[in-house]
Amino acid sequence: STPTRTAFQITPKADRVPAAERAELLASPGFGRVFSEHMAVVTYTEGKGWHTPQILPRQPLTLDPAASVLHYAQEIFEGMKAYRAPNGEALLFRPDANARRFRHSAERMAMAQLPEDLFLDAVTQLVTIDKDWIPAADVGTLYIRPFMIATEAALGVKPAAEFKFLVIACAAGEYFSKDAGPVSVWVEERTVRASRGGTGEAKCGGNYAASLTAQMEAKEHGCHQVLFLDAIERKWIEEMGGMNIVMVFDDGTILTPPLEGTILRGITRDSLLTLARDKGLTVREEPYAIDQLYADAKSGHLKEVFACGTAAVVTPIGTLKSAEGTCVINGGKTGEVTTALRKALCDIQYGRADDAHGWVKRV
Ligand code: PLP
Ligand code: COI
Repeated sequence: STPTRTAFQITPKADRVPAAERAELLASPGFGRVFSEHMAVVTYTEGKGWHTPQILPRQPLTLDPAASVLHYAQEIFEGMKAYRAPNGEALLFRPDANARRFRHSAERMAMAQLPEDLFLDAVTQLVTIDKDWIPAADVGTLYIRPFMIATEAALGVKPAAEFKFLVIACAAGEYFSKDAGPVSVWVEERTVRASRGGTGEAKCGGNYAASLTAQMEAKEHGCHQVLFLDAIERKWIEEMGGMNIVMVFDDGTILTPPLEGTILRGITRDSLLTLARDKGLTVREEPYAIDQLYADAKSGHLKEVFACGTAAVVTPIGTLKSAEGTCVINGGKTGEVTTALRKALCDIQYGRADDAHGWVKRV
C-alpha cells in the first residue's frame, strides 16, 4: 500500500448515503454525475507554502468574486481512475505520471508547484475514504479529478499568490454511451485547439472551453467527438477534444502524432505505445496529414483508428466526417489491434494481468 506522508485532517461526512442507495447509483453511473462523498482540499499561501491538508464532506466552495480563477482562468486539472481489482482492492494506474504532468501544467500557467508526494497523498486519502464509491469492475471505475484554482482576490493581471488544490471523484461507466463500439469524429477545419508556444500541452480548463464550439459543431453533424488539426498548415492531425489519436496500418505498424507542445502528453497514449512495442509492433511518433489519412483509408493501407485517454480508455473510430465528406475506417467495425491493446491495458489497470512495468499502485 502507498505510504502516506502528509497528515490530512479528516472530517468524515455525518449522514452517509445508505448502501442500497449507493448501489443503485453505482449500477449505471454514466460519466461525471454521480459524485463520491468527500473531497481533499489543500491551501497555498505565498510565503507560507502548502498548508491545511483536509479531507472534508463534499461541499460548495466559498470564493471571493474577484478570485483570479474567475477572471483570468488560472486553473489546471488532472484525470485519473481508481479500479476495482478482483480481490476487491482499489488500484491506481501510474498516479505518479499524473502528479508530474500536474506540476508541468502548473508551471505553464504560472501557478504554485504542488509537490508530487502531496498530490499522491491527497488522491490516496480521498480514494481510501470513498472506496465504496468504486463501481464493480464490469460497470466502471471511480474517476478522480484533482484540480487547482487561483483564489486570490485581485483583478490585476498577475500570477495569484493564493491557490487551492482539490480532489473530487465520480463514478464512471463508459464515456461514450455506445458500449465501446466505434464512434464518429468530426474533423474540425474552422477553429484550432492549440498552437506552438500556446497552452496545448498543459491540462488547463481554458483549452477545453476553447474546444466547445467545435464539439458543438461535431454534434450538429451527428459526431461524438472532434479531431483538431495543426494551427499553422491546418493539415496535420493533432488530437481530439479530450483524447489522443492512434492509427494502425496493414503492415502492423502504429502511428500517433509526436509530442511537440501542442497536444496533451497522454498517459494512456504512452502506456499503449509501450504495450504495442512489447507485442513487437513498430511504433512511429510522426506527423500524419489528414489528406494522407483519407488516401490511406481508401487504399486499405490504414486499417484502424482509435481514440485513447483516461475517460475514453481505447475507443475505436469508425467514421471521420468533414465538410468534404465521410471517410469510413475498417468498414465501421472495431479492429483487432484496437481490441487487443484495449484488453492488454484494461487487464493491467484492473489487476487481472501481470504488471510488468510497475504501473499499478494499491491504495
Ligand atoms: N488529450 C486531451 C485533450 C485530454 O483531455 C486527454 C485526457 O486526459 C488526453 C489527451 C489523454 O490523456 P490521458 O491518457 O493522460 O488521460
Ligand atoms: C480525461 O480523460 O481524464 C479527460 O480529461 C477527458 C475529458 C473529456 C473527461
